Amino acid sequence: MDDGLLDRRMLLTATLGLAAGMTFPAAARTASERIDALLARMTIEEKAGQLSCFNDDVRPVDAVFNPVVNPRSAAAMLAEVRAGRVGMLFNGYGVAGARKAQEAALASRLGIPLVFAADVIHGCRTTFPIPLAEAAAFDPDLSERACRAIAREASAAGLHWTFAPVVDIARDQRWGRVAEGAGEDLLLNRLLAAARVRGFQGDDLRANDALLATAKHFAGYSAVTGGMEYGAVDMSEATLRELFLPPFAAAFKAGAGATIASFTTLNGIPVTANHWLLTRVLREEMGFTGVCVSDYDADRELVAHGVAENEADAAKLAITAGIDMSMQSGLYNRHLPALVAAGRVPMSMIDRSVRRVLALKEALGLFDNPFRSLDVRVERRAVKREATQKLARDVATRAIVLLRNDGDLLPLPRRDTRIALIGPFAADRANTGGPWTFAGRTQDAISIEAGIRALLADPDALTVEPGCAIEAAIPGGIERAVALARASDVVLLAIGESAAMSGEANSRVSITVPAPQQALAEALAATGKPIVVLLRHGRALALEGAIRDASALLATWFLGEQTGTAIADILFGVCEPTGRLPVSFPFSTGQQPWSYDRPATGRPAPASQPMEGGRSHWRDAPDRALYAFGSGLSYTRFTLSNVKAPAEVLHDQPLVIQAEVTNTGTRPGTAFVRTDLHIRIGEASPIRRMAGFTHVHVEPKKSVIANVLIPSDRIHYTISAPRGDHSRDLKLTVMLNGLDKYSADITVSNH
Ligand code: BGC
Repeated sequence: MDDGLLDRRMLLTATLGLAAGMTFPAAARTASERIDALLARMTIEEKAGQLSCFNDDVRPVDAVFNPVVNPRSAAAMLAEVRAGRVGMLFNGYGVAGARKAQEAALASRLGIPLVFAADVIHGCRTTFPIPLAEAAAFDPDLSERACRAIAREASAAGLHWTFAPVVDIARDQRWGRVAEGAGEDLLLNRLLAAARVRGFQGDDLRANDALLATAKHFAGYSAVTGGMEYGAVDMSEATLRELFLPPFAAAFKAGAGATIASFTTLNGIPVTANHWLLTRVLREEMGFTGVCVSDYDADRELVAHGVAENEADAAKLAITAGIDMSMQSGLYNRHLPALVAAGRVPMSMIDRSVRRVLALKEALGLFDNPFRSLDVRVERRAVKREATQKLARDVATRAIVLLRNDGDLLPLPRRDTRIALIGPFAADRANTGGPWTFAGRTQDAISIEAGIRALLADPDALTVEPGCAIEAAIPGGIERAVALARASDVVLLAIGESAAMSGEANSRVSITVPAPQQALAEALAATGKPIVVLLRHGRALALEGAIRDASALLATWFLGEQTGTAIADILFGVCEPTGRLPVSFPFSTGQQPWSYDRPATGRPAPASQPMEGGRSHWRDAPDRALYAFGSGLSYTRFTLSNVKAPAEVLHDQPLVIQAEVTNTGTRPGTAFVRTDLHIRIGEASPIRRMAGFTHVHVEPKKSVIANVLIPSDRIHYTISAPRGDHSRDLKLTVMLNGLDKYSADITVSNH
C-alpha cells in the first residue's frame, strides 16, 4: 500500500478512536466491585448462561423473523431462566410476561436480573416510517425525537434494549436491508447513527424510559456481493475504514452500549470468527467497551461457513474472536464449560465477556431495580400515546420526496376534482409498515384511501380500484381501472413493493416495480389522464416506462401507520414536500452498487451528451442516476444568490458558508442547501462528498440567509489523502435542492 493511503488510514484511525467522547458504560467503582464480587461466585455454567440470549418464548410476538432454532415453551424457558442459563431474552412484548421472566431470574441461585431486548427498528406499538424514510428528512433532531418517543413506548412495554440503529451504509439497492438504515451517504449515516443512539438511550441509561442502543451490523454487512443477503463481502481495508466504520464510531461515541456482528464474511473470514475485526479494530482501535452479540445463530453457522469443524469449535472461534453473547444457538451454554475445562478457552476470556454483560446490566440500573420498565400502569399510559402518533405522522410527512411534478399538477384541489385511486396499495394497510414492524398492528394503520377521503370536501369524489395485485394480475382488473381513469380528472397510482419485498433476506436481482403493476401503469398512461405515482418501497427502485414518465411522482417508502394521513397532507398541499432522497434512484438495476460519491473517471461522459462514444457509461444507461442522492422538489421555486465562502479557513476552525435563498413562487416552501467538499489534488482520486446541509423555510417572494456550518473534523476527513502539499486546497460546491449552483476554492491554513 502506498504512503498516501497509509496516511489516510492513520488519520481515520485517529478519527475512529473514542477515548474522548465515550459514554458507555461508565461503571462506577461500587458497580465494578459488585461485578467482581458476583463474578467470584459464578460457576462456569452460570457464566455461560449470562453470555447466552434467546427468543423470548415467555411473551413472544408474532413478528419473529428468523428460522426456528431451539424453540421452547414459556414454561421451559422460565425453567432455563431459573437455572441461570439465560442472560437476555429478546423479541418479547408486554409487561406481565416480562415480570414473570424477571421473577424467575431473581429466583435463580445468584439472582442476576435478565435484560430484555427487541428489534425495535422503527417503532414498537406505534409504527413509524422505516429508518430509510426517516432519513429522507435529513434532520438528526427529528430522528432523535422519533427514537426518544419510540424508546418511551418500548420501555413501557417491558423492554430495556433495542437492536437498533442499523448503521450499515447502503449502496447496493438490491440488498433488502437498505430499508433499515440511513442510505448511501457517509455524513448522513454518521449524524443519524449518533442521533438515533441519543434518542433511544436518552440522557440517563438508568431511567425507566431509556432503551440501550445497538449499532449493527459490525461491519461491512451491506456490501455483500451482488446485494445478496448473508453473502460474501470483499472490500479494501481503506474502504472499510473510510466508509463503513465511521457510522459505528459515531454511534459508539454517542454511547451505544452494544453491537451485533455481521452474518457475512469479510474478505473471506466470517465476521463471527474474525478476531482482527472484532477485537483488534472494534476494541483496541475503536475503543468500544460495550457488548458484542453474535447475530441470530451465527456462531453455529460457522460450521456451514466451513471454518468450524463442529459446534464446539464454532463456540471457541466465536468467543476467541470477540463475540461476548451468543444469540439463539445455545452454543455457549452447551460448549463453553467443556472448552474451559479442556483448556481450549481460557477462563479470563469468559470473564472478560461476562464482565461486559454485567456492566451493561449495571449501566441500565437492573441490579438496583430489576423491575425497572416493568410497570403495568406505565404500560397502559405510555403505549400509543396521542403525542407519539402525532410525531409518527410528522416524520411520515417529512419523509415523502417529490421527485417530479410536471406542470405543477400537485398539490391537488380538495374539491371539484374526480380522483381515481388505483393500484394494489390504494386501500392496503398490511403493507404500510414495511419490514420489522415488531409489535405494530395492521388494524392501526391508515390506508391511502382513508387518508385522502378524510381530506376531501366531497369524499365521494374518490373512487378506488386495485387494478392488479402486488405481484399478479386480477381478472378484468386493468379494464376496470382504465374505465375508472377515463371517468376521472386525475389518477393516483399507488404501486411499488410489498413489505415482504425488502428487509432482511429480501434481496432482489431486479429492483423494478413488479410486472403486473407496470402493465397497469402502461394501460393507464394510454388514457392520457394525468397520473400521480405514489411509490411504496423499502429501497431506491429502477423506474421504467409509464411509471418513470408519470406527470408526478412521490417517493413514499413505507411510512408506518400514518401512511394515509401523511400522503394526503402532501397531495393536497396541507404540508409542503420537504424530503430528499437518502439513496440515488438508478436508471437500471445493472448500475448497482451505486452512490453519488465516486472517484472521478478519466473519461467522464459530458452531461449534454451522456452517451457519447469512448466515454464512461453503460451501453444502455448513462453514468449517472435518474434521481441522485439529495434530490427532491418543492411546490414552489427557489433561487440561490450572494454565496459567501471564505477563501481561507483555519485548520481547527469550522467553515461557514452563507447563501441567500429566495422563494420566487407563490407558495411557502423549504429549500435544502447542501455543501460538498473535496480536496483538489489527491494521492487517491479525490471524492466529492456532502460535508454539510441545512433547510430554510421561505415565504413566497421573500429571501432568507442559509448558513451551512462544516465543523473542522469534517474538513480534515476530506483532506485525508492529499498529494504532496495539496492538503491545503479544497474545492467547495454549494447545491440548492440537489443541483450545483456555486463552486469555489478554499485554502486550509495553519495559522
Ligand atoms: C438480524 C438482526 C436481528 C436479529 C434478532 C437477525 O436475523 O440480522 O438484525 O437483530 O435477527 O432478531
